[in-house]
Amino acid sequence: MAIWTNLSHYLTSKSKKANLYYVAATVVLCCTFYVIGLWPQGGVNTTQLSSTTLLPTLPCNPSIKNTNSNYGSSISLEFTAHHTATDLVPLSPSARVNHFPSCNPELSEYTPCEDSKRSLKFDRNMLIYRERHCPEKNELLKCRIPAPFGYKPPFRWPESRDSVWYANVPHKHLTVEKAGQNWVRFKGDRFTFPGGGTMFPRGADAYIDDIGKLINLKDGSIRTAIDTGCGVASWGAYLLSRNILPISFAPKDTHEAQVQFALERGVPALIGILATKRLPYPARAFDMAHCSRCLIPWGQYDGLYLIEVDRILRPGGYWILSGPPINWENHWKGWNRTAKDLKAEQDQIESVARSLCWKKVTQKGELAIWQKPTNHMHCKINRKVFRKPPFCQEQDPDKAWYTKIDACLSPLPEVSNIRDFAGGPLANWPERLTAVPPRIATGNIEGVTAEGFSKDTELWKKRVAHYKALDFQLAECGRYRNILDMNAWLGGFAAALVDDPVWVMNVIPVEAEVNTLGVIYERGLIGTYQSWCEAMSTYPRTYDFIHADSVFSLYQDRCEMEDILLEMDRILRPQGSVIFRDDVDVLVNVKSIVDGLQWDSRMVDHEGGPHVREKLLIATKQYWTTPAPDQDKQPS
Ligand SMILES: C[S@@+](CC[C@H](N)C(=O)[O-])C[C@H]1O[C@@H](n2cnc3c(N)ncnc32)[C@H](O)[C@@H]1O
Repeated sequence: MAIWTNLSHYLTSKSKKANLYYVAATVVLCCTFYVIGLWPQGGVNTTQLSSTTLLPTLPCNPSIKNTNSNYGSSISLEFTAHHTATDLVPLSPSARVNHFPSCNPELSEYTPCEDSKRSLKFDRNMLIYRERHCPEKNELLKCRIPAPFGYKPPFRWPESRDSVWYANVPHKHLTVEKAGQNWVRFKGDRFTFPGGGTMFPRGADAYIDDIGKLINLKDGSIRTAIDTGCGVASWGAYLLSRNILPISFAPKDTHEAQVQFALERGVPALIGILATKRLPYPARAFDMAHCSRCLIPWGQYDGLYLIEVDRILRPGGYWILSGPPINWENHWKGWNRTAKDLKAEQDQIESVARSLCWKKVTQKGELAIWQKPTNHMHCKINRKVFRKPPFCQEQDPDKAWYTKIDACLSPLPEVSNIRDFAGGPLANWPERLTAVPPRIATGNIEGVTAEGFSKDTELWKKRVAHYKALDFQLAECGRYRNILDMNAWLGGFAAALVDDPVWVMNVIPVEAEVNTLGVIYERGLIGTYQSWCEAMSTYPRTYDFIHADSVFSLYQDRCEMEDILLEMDRILRPQGSVIFRDDVDVLVNVKSIVDGLQWDSRMVDHEGGPHVREKLLIATKQYWTTPAPDQDKQPS
């Protein structure tokens, strides 16, 4: 009995000790996991802030209430299985990713298809080396492009037109090189843009006023414009307040960071060049094309570059040229060229313009303006006089992705009367946005009727209202400026945002079954062709918001999902967001990769309710930058 009592006493004191050990071990474990939980995602090498730290809110539409801190009130859905291994829907191999590391800080401005090292391997003739040359599959980076140290959310429009943070585009070269022309100045922590350009040192606004005295910029007949060789895009920047929507482009050349400045200013722009390939726009897209001293040899190569401008100008569209050789009589000495040489250049341009059946509208002071005919009735007849360029045979004029520019004239759609507008008349802006686009009215877009077009417009109004209820940043007036629609179809998403202070780059993937980019332009919106199996011709951190509707179902079996998502990560600004819309199975795979990019994301139901297979995935990129650079390594 005594033995039994001693044994039970011994065991009780032992178990008390053991309990104490358990309690101590539990406390230690809790503390450890708490500390791990606090540790910022992404490790030690990045500077991070939560998505909401830098953003004040001001709802665009007061009727939209955002009760939840991040994404409005919709319930987050989870579609990953929690059953046994055999029940799991397997993720695609590329979706089984844990974490993408940060790329080297030197890559913070990486533009994969315009890489200066790769470009040197290509021919300098006709500037081929400055065209798109994308990395091979084995050269693709599998890391996230970092923002430079000190990166801040850009100024909001319209302040952004005039101010850019130095930390975001740390390049002072143009402030020195173009000081006399007032392109850009540097002071303190920012650049300012007085609106000057090569041909408008007094400012783009005064220059546009001069154009407005020669052609009507006010009646809505001119809505879309293209600026070839745009510099820092002040011409485009000042057109926006006149309800004219420009695309500005220039190559990555000695005019350091010019397109990057344009984008940072909140002006629609792309890296691009007029060299040997067609510009990535459909035929008959723009109401007006412009070049101010843009260095494109318009008169050379049998007029090849004016032939390309002719293709993208709509019937009756204008081409505006300032700078050499225009007004050479007064400027030839200042331009360091002989009068004879400049006169010959102008004669050559006039002759090419005539051969394209353009009419010279006027030449006054520094400006010369030509107009493309509204149809080709006369032009077909006068081919007997002007044998060159001949009309193109059997070539789709809308095709423009790595398509060689041929020295032939893209024929306009046939008309039966000399007064007819080839392809059908365009309404003036703003009616143009909702009027049935001529390509649809004439039955040229397979599967889309006038009625279908109007329904699509209404559908996207509802969808965008739903998006704004889910993403408070999209709803907040002025928070976003640069928006990308990766698969824009008829441009309904952009049309629904027309009253917001944003612009939308509407992409029609070259893999899409129907080419609808022409319709988008006929609505008075802008866009470009793009294959998402390759990088876009733009700088990192171009867009505040990306809309990816059915992108990943389109690219299934075409290219790697993770490469498209890494490209989206490259071109999305820190704290910017993305709305994916796709089949639930596709989105489950997307979500797994998005987690590896360290975006915050959640899946929610389609606006039609939980029984629709299509779902939405709403994601926000975190704010993070490279670590502080060494003091002795100063950027240019
Ligand atoms: C002298 S700057 C003029 C910039 C602007 N147009 C202005 O008036 O301020 C020349 C511009 O033409 C661009 N450029 C040169 N060759 C080009 C080409 N083949 N295609 C497109 N842009 C070109 C340059 O990158 C630069 O933006």
